[in-house]
Amino acid sequence: TSVFQGRSLLAEKDFTRSELEYLIDFSIHLKELKKHNIPHRYLEGKNIALLFEKTSTRTRSAFTTASVDLGAHPEYLGANDIQLGKKETTEDTAKVLGSMFDGIEFRGFSQKMVEELSEFSGVPVWNGLTDEWHPTQMIADFMTIKENFGSLENVTLVYVGDGRNNMANSLLVTGAILGVNVRICAPQALFPEQEIVDYAEGFAAESGAELMITDNVEEGVKGANVLYTDVWVSMGEEDKFEERVKMLQPYQLNMEMINKTGNQETDRLIVLHCLPAFHDTNTQYGKMVEEQFGVKEMEITDEVFRSKYARQFEEAENRMHSIKAIMAATLGNLFIPRT
Ligand code: CP
Ligand code: NVA
Repeated sequence: TSVFQGRSLLAEKDFTRSELEYLIDFSIHLKELKKHNIPHRYLEGKNIALLFEKTSTRTRSAFTTASVDLGAHPEYLGANDIQLGKKETTEDTAKVLGSMFDGIEFRGFSQKMVEELSEFSGVPVWNGLTDEWHPTQMIADFMTIKENFGSLENVTLVYVGDGRNNMANSLLVTGAILGVNVRICAPQALFPEQEIVDYAEGFAAESGAELMITDNVEEGVKGANVLYTDVWVSMGEEDKFEERVKMLQPYQLNMEMINKTGNQETDRLIVLHCLPAFHDTNTQYGKMVEEQFGVKEMEITDEVFRSKYARQFEEAENRMHSIKAIMAATLGNLFIPRT
């Protein structure tokens, strides 16, 4: 067995630098196998439960296709399909699912719920996003950065926008573990919570990553190699729409910001976004926002979204390869550990 066998992925802070690096490299390897049509059925005959309290395109699709490519059967269990949270406790649901499924993905609100699923199911549980963390996204994101720059050394990632959401938390802590410099550039009211900063600083002291939390855009984005943003209003906080639109305008990822990095003429600048992105009004949601708030673009402009710097669709594809790596490492019956 490997160091990964039987483990859950609930939050990045539970994994060491070399473990995260292993998952990134394994993801790149699995991407090659897929490209050359080489079978990689590490989960032959297994059953995987996919629990979703919140909606999803990428995470659901990645877990589904990854499961099938690995030889497993995925079963989607949406919030309205099962008893969890209404008629049944998390503990009881976990015990039942653990007796039938070999692994469980959970996306929802509470971090405590994904922890309880892991505690009581007895099988690996993978956090597909909670209000606090988005760890499977991190493997895809740092994989994408490594593919683009060849290594994670001397990389400065600047996240602009809502500095208090799951993505900001995960990027800050994961970058700190991996030795990637991370800056959170956000209005003070949306700075990360102290607990998150404490975790990150602890890891940075070991890895040598330089961290910065600032509300100053000029200072924050200067020297950026990765400009990263996320929605201004996360799932579950729709009531905060108006205040966020007002507060976050100066942190929009636009061409002016690109030019403030100083790296716009080099090959050392890319743009990432976990998606979904609000870059035009050509969606039902977008039309609503345009009518109510007169806003056409939010966290990223359409110009940047379609620019030569944009890598968000590679990043999205990498969700599948990295989720394969995570599932195969923790549950795979053919997995050979690195020495
Ligand atoms: N990035 C991401 O998690 O996308 P979905 O919400 O579509 O799964
Ligand atoms: N912060 C976003 C991420 C979506 C992948 C949300 O939680 O809605």
